[in-house]
Amino acid sequence: MFVVIGATGIVGRETVGLLRKLGEEVAAVTRNPAADLPDGVRLVQGDPSKPDSITAWPPDAEAVLLSPRAAGGATAELLALAARGARRVVLLSAATVEYPAGHRRFADEFKAAEEAVRESGLQWTFLRCADFQANALAWAPQIRSTGVVRGAYAGAATSPIHQRDIAEVAVRALVDPQHAGRAYVLTGPQSLDQRDKVRLIGEALGRRLAFEEVAPEQVREAMLGQGLPDDVPDRLLGSLAHYAKTPGPTTDTVEQLLGRPGLPFAAWAADNTAAFVTPAGS
Ligand SMILES: NC(=O)c1ccc[n+]([C@@H]2O[C@H](COP(=O)([O-])OP(=O)(O)OC[C@H]3O[C@@H](n4cnc5c(N)ncnc54)[C@H](OP(=O)(O)O)[C@@H]3O)[C@@H](O)[C@H]2O)c1
Repeated sequence: MFVVIGATGIVGRETVGLLRKLGEEVAAVTRNPAADLPDGVRLVQGDPSKPDSITAWPPDAEAVLLSPRAAGGATAELLALAARGARRVVLLSAATVEYPAGHRRFADEFKAAEEAVRESGLQWTFLRCADFQANALAWAPQIRSTGVVRGAYAGAATSPIHQRDIAEVAVRALVDPQHAGRAYVLTGPQSLDQRDKVRLIGEALGRRLAFEEVAPEQVREAMLGQGLPDDVPDRLLGSLAHYAKTPGPTTDTVEQLLGRPGLPFAAWAADNTAAFVTPAGS
């Protein structure tokens, strides 16, 4: 039995699906008692940031996939719960731990989660992920309505990663103890700036799209105007400012671990065209 904490998130959902395809028993921890999960997945209700709320933790759990965002500051308490039966934990960490970018406090959150995992006594694997290709979904409303993405730091370049690549590595680390004690920096195969990403989404849609650079302050004000907390523009703009000067890392770790190249952004865009198209009749 494998437990996924953050099971309805981008990586968690993909990992749950892959484990089920392999015929593994999976328990998904979610706050939502009506969460839509693949057939055969055991729903374990609770809020990971309040471990006491998880009353039906599976005693036969062998390994745990943990999202720091879902865990909030409760990683240590959650792992104390897990350690009653589980032997391994795989943590969804971030490349910024090893390649600092943006405000230090965000990297520090991941470092603190890694530290709590190290201290848990469980065997651990850290997946230090680059930005997700799926983050481009944040552009969907602008692309649907105008075909123009307005954002700061057009030249900010990273090698974004497909969630399937992270999930396939996560599954290997969950089932195979040979990954214990390893910290993997996982990136996509190509360095792309923001204009490249928008162009590739346009190519997948068969539409000409544009990226229009605006001042960072304008982006911040727009985000705060949408009711988002300060942390959201701080996280985004801090890292983009860094990547505009120094592109994010590109590693071949996915290829080494999976025996195939990481999935390119174009593949993600092709799989997700529906998100960027206004449904007919609406
Ligand atoms: N996006 C990136 O570029 C990036 C890069 C590197 C690392 N990461 C990290 O990778 C991890 C996985 O990210 P993800 O996007 O797959 O999913 P996620 O943000 O971890 O969300 C997973 C699930 O956690 C649950 N959750 C519980 N409390 C939450 C809270 N306070 N805020 C948000 N979600 C909460 C939600 O499930 P229920 O509603 O079902 O309870 C949510 O669907 C995160 O820790 C993230 O920080 C992300």
